[in-house]
Amino acid sequence: MQNIKKLHTALLSWYEENGREHLPWRTTRNIYHIYISEIMLQQTQVSRVMEEFYPNFLEKFPTLEILSKAPIDEVLASWSGLGYYSRARNIHKTANLSTEKLPDTMAELLKLPGIGRYTASAICSFGYEQNVSVVDTNIARVLKRYCGLLDVKDEVVWKNADELLNHKASRAHNLALMDLGSMVCNPKNPKCDECPLEKNCLGKNEPELYTKKKKTVYESMDLFYAICIKDNKIALQKSTGKMYKGMLELPSCDPIDENFIDTYKHSYTKYRLTVNLYKVEELDNDEIIWIKIEDIDTLPISTLTKKALLKINNIL
Ligand code: ADE
Repeated sequence: MQNIKKLHTALLSWYEENGREHLPWRTTRNIYHIYISEIMLQQTQVSRVMEEFYPNFLEKFPTLEILSKAPIDEVLASWSGLGYYSRARNIHKTANLSTEKLPDTMAELLKLPGIGRYTASAICSFGYEQNVSVVDTNIARVLKRYCGLLDVKDEVVWKNADELLNHKASRAHNLALMDLGSMVCNPKNPKCDECPLEKNCLGKNEPELYTKKKKTVYESMDLFYAICIKDNKIALQKSTGKMYKGMLELPSCDPIDENFIDTYKHSYTKYRLTVNLYKVEELDNDEIIWIKIEDIDTLPISTLTKKALLKINNIL
């Protein structure tokens, strides 16, 4: 009991001095804004979200209702460059399922597409200021080390988070743990000498035991795309594939050596792609949409395809 009080006090005073309280989604209680930030932050760095995607997206779709009424193409266009486009499709679906207001219970939030336990708890804690614990990968690492939880299931980490929660200041407590995980209790070479929890931390002698990463199995793939240009317009089509569904992409073609233009590498999720571009005069394909090159920035086009368009800029 004494220990837990000390932990609460040490953590909160560390947060007051070192925490990232200024992040724009922390200075607001607008639930929709917090929700959008959490979805963006799932796979994208804080700096990119803060400087670029979060302000631009909220300028275009300032409310849940406006988002719900927007065509999905426009939502995908605003998501261009962020990757993991299922996130954009899910926020659009969610906006259509709850146009007025996002639910304020974990149980209701968890029914919405793309909202898992972390996101639901983040909305409840950071937005609605409810007394709930939050566990993301950073918080999980802090808790595993502090409590000495080796090779445990997520459920055990959540239980420890519940037990350590500061019920008098749960929001700040959760944010403090998150910042401690990302700024001090790093996966490699944690800065234990700067940590307010160091004294009672069970993992401090062998911190890397707690961060055994599953090895990502990368998959190499070659892609062959047609570059077909007429009247300063380029042929694109709507992707029906799982990853880029709804985004505009180049049509595929057979690789014919004499039509080869250029090649480049692109990494996306677990894929290590080699993209090969071929000049094609005619396309026998009903799905083609002719796009003016100057419209590219307003359309749902992934970084993979934008790279190709940059490569061929000189022949457009
Ligand atoms: N503050 C609130 N949620 C956050 C997140 N997911 N990443 C970084 N800072 C945050």
